[in-house]
Amino acid sequence: MEKLVSSWFEVELLPEPYVFPPEKRPGKVSFPLGKSIPVLDLGSSNDQNETIQQIMKASEEFGFFQVINHGVSKDLIDDTMNVAREFHAMPAQDKVNECSKDPNEEYMQFWPAKPTKYREGLKLRTSYFSSGLNESPTIIINHYPPCPDPTLTLGIPKHRDPTVITILLQGDVHGLQVFKDSEWIGVEPLPHAFVVNIGYVLQIVSNGKLKGADHRVMTNSSHARTTLSVFVHPSSETIIEPAKSLLNASNPPIYRALKFKDFQNEFLSKAADAEALHQFISSTTD
Ligand code: OGA
Ligand code: NI
Repeated sequence: MEKLVSSWFEVELLPEPYVFPPEKRPGKVSFPLGKSIPVLDLGSSNDQNETIQQIMKASEEFGFFQVINHGVSKDLIDDTMNVAREFHAMPAQDKVNECSKDPNEEYMQFWPAKPTKYREGLKLRTSYFSSGLNESPTIIINHYPPCPDPTLTLGIPKHRDPTVITILLQGDVHGLQVFKDSEWIGVEPLPHAFVVNIGYVLQIVSNGKLKGADHRVMTNSSHARTTLSVFVHPSSETIIEPAKSLLNASNPPIYRALKFKDFQNEFLSKAADAEALHQFISSTTD
């Protein structure tokens, strides 16, 4: 807990428990120029089909995209991010008092508008995702203090989110990187944009048509970074499985059906071992 609530400003050396073993360190801290994830302007077209196609293309190619002109007001976004920053600026004891280690809190009822049109793009009936798959959204506020040496550690190591989709406000500090074609691409901070990424659950539901995107978070030597994510989660008892309407003889299920809570437990224990997690969700046991 101490590790989680500390803001450790003014440390001069990265404390030893945070130093990654050499083979897991990010090494260089540059954000490769010239490559970027797609930015979709949701206000640019009146043609919903065009928007859906853009979203599907970005989802298939990158598993990650940003949306601008999404209709959520700048003031609401600024207020929300200010609350997130205020939380992390509180004294450690105040934060401890607010903390819970239970990830299954049932009272997270409120979540922002979703700028997504996946249902139609995937050719699933629009009610498909209302039947439990988005029943238990979780808001996660991460705080990454300035780090004396970003080459030695990571804010979050390479991972894929255990979500249907994740919607992120990353503020104005660099840090998030997406793994594509064997290289890391920096996600440019765009004011008031939402960063959207595909998670494991949608990978399973779409039977692999959309893939959860691997990403990681670098630390930053000069700026603190606070981000807010909405994890669009099923409820614990919801069965996650390839959508039946997408399956046929030439598209057999490559994942098995399982309860979200069983997936989540396995995810929490195996997230660092992508291959083991893959075996767990696969429909075949070889
Ligand atoms: C996460 C995540 C990204 C960020 O919480 O899973 O990837 O920039 N966060 O904080
Ligand atoms: Ni993530």
